[in-house]
Amino acid sequence: MPNIRIAPSILSADFRRLQQQVEAVVEGGADWIHCDVMDGHFVPNISFGPMVVAAVRKVTELPLDTHLMISRPEQYVNSFRDAGADRLIVHAEATVHLHRLVDQIKQAGMQAGVAINPATPLQAIEEILPDVDLVLIMTVNPGFGGQAFIANMLDKVRRLKRLCEARQTFPHIEVDGGIDETTAVDAVKAGANVLVAGSSVFSQADPARAVRQLRKAAERAAAVAA
Ligand code: DX5
Ligand code: ZN
Repeated sequence: MPNIRIAPSILSADFRRLQQQVEAVVEGGADWIHCDVMDGHFVPNISFGPMVVAAVRKVTELPLDTHLMISRPEQYVNSFRDAGADRLIVHAEATVHLHRLVDQIKQAGMQAGVAINPATPLQAIEEILPDVDLVLIMTVNPGFGGQAFIANMLDKVRRLKRLCEARQTFPHIEVDGGIDETTAVDAVKAGANVLVAGSSVFSQADPARAVRQLRKAAERAAAVAA
């Protein structure tokens, strides 16, 4: 069975009924819930903070894959841990001391992931690869849901996969931004195994079905790629 993980992003959920929206994707077989935290500083948009993560925590036991698009992430590690995050994904661009921050996250009892923006080269994370549980390749510029997938990022995913193999270290490879049934197939063939999907799931009348369809497409692609 391929190692695909589907992580719906609640950024595109209807916040008037967040609980039902989360329950719907859980019912559809989501593996993780992706929480997009934005501060209006590191990215141009503001979304939500630990309080909403804590609310989602009360709705599901699925791992909360928490993507911090914020400046000075080191100041908020404990707040998100206390809110119930299982993994913190931090941007390499948002901190000077990435290794220290990754350590801090692990010391706080969470898994640590690292994200890079489309224009950031893989070299920025090469030395941290053995220390993280996940690498997130942004396939849009972070800040908003519903943007178009940047196809050039597929080559970056391929190169990351090769780099991991060369270094014999195997973090999850997550893609985030513009993922739907079509781009998911390309991303999985390139080497990604975790698919974040916001608008392609929550813009559907039946988000559970959207999750199932996405998984079907991704697992088919993974079987072909194997
Ligand atoms: C973008 C966020 C994404 C976003 C993806 O800044 O990191 O997780 O929710 O949304 P879609 O799937 O709509 O591109
Ligand atoms: Zn995200």
